Amino acid sequence: MTDTARSGRLPVVIAPSILSSDFTRLGEEIRRIERGGCDRIHVDVMDGHFVPNLTIGPPVVRALHRVASRPLDVHIMIDDPDRWYGAYCDAGAAGLTFHVEASRDPAATCRAIRERGVRPAIAFKPATPIEPYAEAIEAADMVLIMTVEPGFAGQSFLPGPLAKVRALRERMGERIEIEVDGGINDETVVQAAAAGANVFVAGSYVFRHDDVAVPIARLREGARRARGEPV
Ligand code: DX5
Ligand code: ZN
Repeated sequence: MTDTARSGRLPVVIAPSILSSDFTRLGEEIRRIERGGCDRIHVDVMDGHFVPNLTIGPPVVRALHRVASRPLDVHIMIDDPDRWYGAYCDAGAAGLTFHVEASRDPAATCRAIRERGVRPAIAFKPATPIEPYAEAIEAADMVLIMTVEPGFAGQSFLPGPLAKVRALRERMGERIEIEVDGGINDETVVQAAAAGANVFVAGSYVFRHDDVAVPIARLREGARRARGEPV
């Protein structure tokens, strides 16, 4: 029986962001977090326009997909996702998250991503309200509520966006995954899980440990404890 079937709740999912990994050894870094017990691998794509930083594109996602045994949770912080989503679906994303602020019709983009066999998700910057996006939320498998301004790892957690997490969980029940990304560590994960998030991205907190199994286990324990579940 799955965790969801037992408790009626979506399971806790830990997704380390490889943005904080050693880019000279990406394959080994993937193996390291998989051995450490991660559930998904969060991949941050930035275009130097939508956010003031530039990271990786489809060829690197394709290479990661060749070595990864866990699903790739690809977060595209780019202008015009309606033009580029296909390249990331083809590169091996299991889930593809794009920003509503950059999309002309996020509900239609979600449907197009799903047609490619990839799980669609929409992301909100800290100051973007969720109310105007009811149709897109219904069309998505997951909503990402950013808890830092997107662009860089290692920033401090912003608690304000947790109001959106609470509102979404209340409105949607367990019909949708809610992911938080930015400044997540063993303390902030508790606040985010208590608000209703079930998918937790962490970059610098995971990769600053030599043994990444330790922070991954702490994140999972913190989230489960906040949900009143056995750890
Ligand atoms: C920020 C990225 C995050 C970032 C998280 O724009 O979307 O995934 O890597 O890094 P930490 O956990 O260090 O805030
Ligand atoms: Zn991210």
